[in-house]
Amino acid sequence: MNICKTVEDVRALSTAWHKEGKTIGLVPTMGYLHDGHASLMDIAHRHADKIIVSVFVNPTQFGPNEDLDKYPRDFERDQAVCEAHGVDAIFYPTPQLMYAPDFSTWVHEDSLSQLMCGQSRPIHFRGVCTVCTKLFNISLCDVAVFGKKDAQQALIIRRMVRDLNMPLQIVLAPLVREADGLAMSSRNKYLSAEEHQRALSISKGIFAAQKRYEEGERNADALKRILTESIQKGEGQIDYVVLMDQDTLRPIEQIDRPALLACAAFFGKTRLIDNVFLE
Ligand code: PAJ
Repeated sequence: MNICKTVEDVRALSTAWHKEGKTIGLVPTMGYLHDGHASLMDIAHRHADKIIVSVFVNPTQFGPNEDLDKYPRDFERDQAVCEAHGVDAIFYPTPQLMYAPDFSTWVHEDSLSQLMCGQSRPIHFRGVCTVCTKLFNISLCDVAVFGKKDAQQALIIRRMVRDLNMPLQIVLAPLVREADGLAMSSRNKYLSAEEHQRALSISKGIFAAQKRYEEGERNADALKRILTESIQKGEGQIDYVVLMDQDTLRPIEQIDRPALLACAAFFGKTRLIDNVFLE
């Protein structure tokens, strides 16, 4: 497995692979890899011949009061996970390499980014779109895989790729959960044992709402109420519980098209997100 620390290193590999007629799949991550990330690597293998994983805690998607400095990092373990999942190369740049001191060009998706997580994290998706554009350009990937865990992010990236005619395919991968139901996240590490237990109220609410949907419930308020009440029972601080159209991310009242039930809630200082695609 190659460890690439510069743009030139990655480009040399990608160019050689393309010359051999191989396709390239990229899995962008911020490291501290778990089974959710690993599932993206496995899925990438089904769509491309060579797999690159980027490990980069992207400073431009963190707000001033967010957890950039304490975001968990363990590159040795990340390498082992990538090795175990047949990854061909890791791109592991420094912030200095990715952002020149006078960096001044941004990619800003203007509609979907304003809702949900965008309301409490105003610069977040600008940072995500910009870094993903850079990673696509650096890796020359044909396919990139994103997890449905970050549903809004995945839908924004898909919109950006369509709007800007970026020459790659975006694949969305299912959300992976812990055995107890909690959506896997690098941030779960911040939770105390007690907060973790209470945070299960999120997945319990998601499962209960999904069940009601499968039984035929199509009223958005009824499904949102199930999730809201569950999180309240776990004493989570709700940021949002929304049910919207998968394409526009606008709220809907009756589910008559592919929809997404999503939430964000704090347990202690840790902000967790979860969702289910209703389709
Ligand atoms: P990160 O949080 O490390 O996630 C990297 C990728 O793994 C994302 O596509 C995310 O949706 C996916 N992922 C995380 N947890 C998952 C889970 N439990 N099940 C399935 N997929 C999961 O998302 C980012 O990093 C960054 O914003 C990034 C796209 C790398 C840009 O900096």
